[in-house]
This record gives sequence, C-alpha cells and structure tokens, in this order.
Amino acid sequence: MATINALDFTVKIDDFRRVKVVEKTYSGKLLPNQVLLEIDQFSFTSNNITYGVVGKQMNYWKFFPTQSSYGIIPVWGLANVVISNHPDVQVGQRFYGYYPMSSHLLVTVNNVGSKGFVDNTKHRQALPSIYNFYVNTEQDPTFTPETEKLISIFRPLFVTSFLIDAHLAEQNFYKTSQILITSASSKTAQALACLLAFRKKKNALNWNLLGLTSKRNMEFVGQLEWYDQVMSYDSIAQLNSNEKFVVIDFSGNHNTQFQLQRFLNKNLVYNCLVGLVDWQNLEGENPLPEKGEFFFAPTHAEKRREEWGVSGFQQKIGIAWLQFMEVVQSTISIKEHIGVQELEKLYSDMLNGKIDPKYGNIVSLNRMNKRL
Ligand SMILES: NC(=O)c1ccc[n+]([C@@H]2O[C@H](COP(=O)([O-])OP(=O)(O)OC[C@H]3O[C@@H](n4cnc5c(N)ncnc54)[C@H](OP(=O)(O)O)[C@@H]3O)[C@@H](O)[C@H]2O)c1
Repeated sequence: MATINALDFTVKIDDFRRVKVVEKTYSGKLLPNQVLLEIDQFSFTSNNITYGVVGKQMNYWKFFPTQSSYGIIPVWGLANVVISNHPDVQVGQRFYGYYPMSSHLLVTVNNVGSKGFVDNTKHRQALPSIYNFYVNTEQDPTFTPETEKLISIFRPLFVTSFLIDAHLAEQNFYKTSQILITSASSKTAQALACLLAFRKKKNALNWNLLGLTSKRNMEFVGQLEWYDQVMSYDSIAQLNSNEKFVVIDFSGNHNTQFQLQRFLNKNLVYNCLVGLVDWQNLEGENPLPEKGEFFFAPTHAEKRREEWGVSGFQQKIGIAWLQFMEVVQSTISIKEHIGVQELEKLYSDMLNGKIDPKYGNIVSLNRMNKRL
C-alpha cells in the first residue's frame, strides 16, 4: 500500500505564537483496530486559542502529542476514513469530533456502535471521555452538507451557553435587573444571548440583557437583536451601579474585570468567568477585589444529567440547538481557509484579535485546490 503524506500544524508550547509545520508519512499498514482519518475540515475560533492558553493546566496538549516542547491545538471538525483495519469501520465513513490541526489522525477504534466510536489510543485513555468520541455523521440526521460547518463552529460552544442559561434560570437570574455579557460578539456569547432572549420572551422576564464589546464590533452585536443594549468597553462608568448585575465574562481582560468589580461593587451579585479571549491582557497592575466564579461546564453538565437524566438532558439541549440553528444561520458567513499558508494567516489574526465576528472560519489542510 502506498505511503500517505501528512502534516501537523504545531506550536511551541511556551510561546504558541511560534508555529512549525511538521511533515510526516503513514505507511498504510495499520495495527489491528487502527483507522486512519483524513481531516476534511475543522472550525477555528478563539476557543481554540484558549485551549492553547490553558493547555498546560487543562491537559489540552496531551490529546495530540508531537515533537518535544511543541503541541498541537485541538479543533472540532469532520474527517473521512481513508484506511481501516477495524471490521466495523469502513473506508469513506465520515466522523465528527475532536481533531488535531493536521491533515490526518490515526485512531485506535473501540466501542463501535451505530452512533460512532471511541478512540482508545493509549495516551487518550486517561483524558475526558467526551473528547474521545467520534460521531458517525451518516447516522445523525442533523449533519447535512449545509449544516456540518455550522455544527463544527457552534456545537462545542453551544453546550456551555446552554448550561449557563440553565444555571441562571435555576438561580432566578440572581434576582438581578441587568445581565451583562463581555466579548458579546464571540460565538459562545452569541449563543448565550440568543438562549436568554428566547427565555426572556417566553417567560416575559424583565431583566436587561447588555452586550459589552469593542467599539468596532458594536454594530455587529447590535444587529443580532438578542441583546437589549450594546455598549463598548470604555463605557463601564455609564452603567447604573444602583442596579444589581450578573456578569458573564468571556473576555478575561483584567482591566475590564477590575472596572466592573470596582464600579458595580456589592451590586455585582454573580461574576461568572467563562472565557479568556483577550489572552494577552489577563493580568494587570491592580489586584482584583474578588475572584469571581469559574464556570466549569463538565460539572454543570453532570448536574443536569443527574437532574434530567441522560436522555432528558439530550432532549432539552437538542430542542434548544435546533432553535438556535434556525436563527443563527442568517447572522453568519462561512469563510474557508485552504492549506497551510491560509491557516497561518488565520491563526496569527486570531491570536492578535483581528477577527470579524460575522465570519465562521473553516479550515482544510487537505483540499489544497478545491474550495469546500
Ligand atoms: N469554560 C468553558 O467551558 C467554555 C466553553 C466554551 C467557550 N469558552 C470560552 O469562551 C471564549 C469565547 O470563545 P469563542 O470561540 O466563542 O470566541 P470567538 O467567537 O472567536 O470570539 C471572537 C471575539 O472575541 C474577542 N476577541 C477575540 N480575540 C481577541 C483578542 N486576541 N483580544 C481581544 N479580544 C479578542 C472579540 O470580541 P469583542 O470585541 O466582543 O470583545 C472577538 O470578536 C473563549 O475564551 C472560549 O475558550 C469557555
């Protein structure tokens, strides 16, 4: 069997601005149960940069090990089987899941069922199982050529938004009159704002949903119609500090946190820390008055599964997902990035916050000459 040329987009772990493309080959001869997947496309958002930011603490570098002192940032996407040495996995099958920023991934297939399989490669066995499951897209009607890019972009983020929305509702929104979301243009924030707007309308709730964003993204956030009000980061002093606030922070910007904590003071009744998009400004001179509460999605997911049962949880999230998909399609344009050079440019732009939130970025390292 002919050898297959492959490549990995690796980054230096201690300075992930430095990238190195590593070329390699697969011999075509696989061990029992091994399957070689050709990664057709993957999404890329700031969430993937955050995987790099917290890679050491959260073990993200351990999923796809590469040359010493380098790592591969995980992404979500779709791949096709090109060689299979497992009796229940066929060449041509297409799987959605957690992939490296690479052209190929070699997996050791375990627990094959109609819905998909688990990668049981040794170094992944101790890592959270949610990342090791690959969905057979033929068996899941939500995957169509029209929806699969949106699924790669939004599905990994949506679960967290769904859990935050459920948590806020359970806490009766902490009896606040203001819910403020930072990095309001980010895709996770968009999904949360959309879910909250649905809930507000359905239950005639009367808090104000406020999106805090950069000046250049105000117009985009405003036209989403999910936020009641949009403000820029430099207008924190204009907030009504006599009212009670919930803050959901996707930005991680130290100065924004400091200003919100100091200005809202005791009226900041729940400070929920979710994201770190502004990774170059996570620290600052002024110590923060308080820490806030990190939102750890897996803990909340476990709680919901216990409360609603596994199928109840899936059903609720499935309904919310379909509602979101219906409305988000008209707000986003897909932008394709083909090959290493285009990926390098996207990666550098994303690191530097040069992102136009109206685009959903999809990368392919295999389709060199063909648009997706
Ligand atoms: N804890 C969890 O379980 C969990 C789950 C999902 C996502 N998250 C986190 O939520 C965050 C949002 O992820 P996403 O994929 O939704 O982001 P995204 O859509 O790529 O966000 C883009 C927006 O983030 C801001 N931004 C991005 N890069 C920046 C930079 N370098 N400097 C300053 N601002 C920057 C800008 O928004 P503004 O102009 O509006 O500030 C930009 O429009 C990530 O940190 C992600 O890891 C956490």
